[in-house]
Formats: sequence, C-alpha cells, structure tokens
Amino acid sequence: MKGVILAGGLGTRLYPLTYVTNKHLLPVYDQPMIYYPIKTLVKAGITEILIVTSGPHVGHFLGVLKNGKEFGLRHLEYAYQEKPDGGIADALSLAESFADGESVAVILGDNTTDADIKEAVSDFKEGAMVFLKRVEDPKRFGIAVFDEEDKTKIIRIDEKPANPQSDMAVTGLYLYDASVFDCIKGINPSARGELEITDVNNKYIKNNSLRWAELDGFWSDAGTFESLYQAGKFWADKTKKDTK
Ligand code: DAU
Repeated sequence: MKGVILAGGLGTRLYPLTYVTNKHLLPVYDQPMIYYPIKTLVKAGITEILIVTSGPHVGHFLGVLKNGKEFGLRHLEYAYQEKPDGGIADALSLAESFADGESVAVILGDNTTDADIKEAVSDFKEGAMVFLKRVEDPKRFGIAVFDEEDKTKIIRIDEKPANPQSDMAVTGLYLYDASVFDCIKGINPSARGELEITDVNNKYIKNNSLRWAELDGFWSDAGTFESLYQAGKFWADKTKKDTK
C-alpha cells in the first residue's frame, strides 16, 4: 500500500502563524507537524509517500523533508493542489497516477496520533476503512451516524453537524482501494465550495463497502490554536515520559 499525506489548504484558522509558512511545518512540540503523519505511515510499513500541498509556501517542504531518507522512505513525491482550499477529496484526486492502481493509506497533514494502524493496513483488501475516535466537540468533525438497531453499522457520516447524532468523529486517517479516484470524479462541491471527503465516504457506505475501527490511542488534529496546543502538550508529556 502507498501513503498519501494531504497538506494543502491555507491554514487561515492559524493566522498570523501561517502568514510565514505552511501550517504543516509549524511545530508540534519538538517536530514539524508533518513529521507525525509521515511517522505513522512508516510505522505501518509504508515507504512510498506522496505529499499533496498548496499555497504560497510550498517550497518550504523540500527544505524540511528533503528526499525523505531520514524517515526511512524509499520514495517521496510531491503534488501541487492548484486551488488551495478545493477540499480534501480534491487534494486526494491528485494522487491517482502515484497510486497507479494500488490501495492508498491517506492521512490529513494536521492529524497526529500514536495509534498503530499496521494491522489494518496489512489486512486491507478492498472498499474503504475509516478510523473513529470519541470527541467532546462533535460539531467540529465528520460524525458517524449509526443504525438504530445495529449499533455497529454506520449508515451515514455528517460533516460538521449542527445536531450531532453521535460523538464518534471520523479521524483524518483513511484506507481506500483504487476505486476512490472514480468515486471522487462523481462528487460535486459542497455548499462551502469544497470536494468533501465525507461525500466520498458516504458513497462507500451506500455501496456497503465502508468498514470502521476505533482508533486506539491519542489522536488530535492541530488546525486550531486549541488543538495545536493540546497536540503539542500530549507529545511533550509523552516524550518526557519515554525518555525518563
Ligand atoms: O481532522 C478530522 C476532520 O478533518 C474530519 O473529521 C472531517 O470529516 C474532515 O472534513 C476534516 O475536517 P477539517 O475541517 O478539520 O479539515 P481542514 O479543512 O482543516 O483540512 C484538514 C487537512 O486536509 C489540512 O490540514 C490539509 C488537508 N487539505 C484540506 C483542504 C480543505 C488539503 O490538502 N486540501 C484542501 O483543499
């Protein structure tokens, strides 16, 4: 399986920090944010990675990541998303030729976790898989809606719902088979003008081919000041504990 990290967008929620560099290069404790998703993929046995990025600071990635050798990557590729906030599914669509018919493990560049997805990656065959995590602020995420009778069955995902039907957030880690690229071609921009990854996942649900697992361990995005602070605090505490 190949890995795709989505690191586009303008990071406007983190202005003024993102006036000077790309959001995914800001520090989360002692490392640039994007190191975390790279390490999650490498830990899962993935050594070929595409980074999709956009905006005025794209050149900074090369200076920080170089050719990826220090992470143990065999291959590191970059793609440029022309419309910086065209949406997560728009960014993912740029990975089609890189995937070249293989399945992909996709991580949002502002997501950080200590979970191990190695087993899910090696067991994955077809369809799509999402990883859920219980959250306190469900209005901020894609939220899984479960069948009233079969409480393990997701019937729909609501993107940032005003009235959340559960507190299980869809994290920014996804596994897709190669049909995801045709699926993206069939969706339309949402009211906010983005190609939504939630619309892609809802298509897999309609086809009865979306599976899910609860993400084991710490998970947070780092795209707001509060979540950036919380993610930094988690990694600071963990690093100090691990080096004691
Ligand atoms: O963090 C998990 C959540 O991420 C999910 O629960 C939501 O379903 C999903 O839509 C997403 O929500 P956010 O509003 O947090 O996404 P955001 O716009 O902050 O984008 C997250 C990352 O995706 C960002 O760090 C870079 C990448 N991205 C985003 C957009 C809009 C791109 O590469 N290109 C884009 O056009």
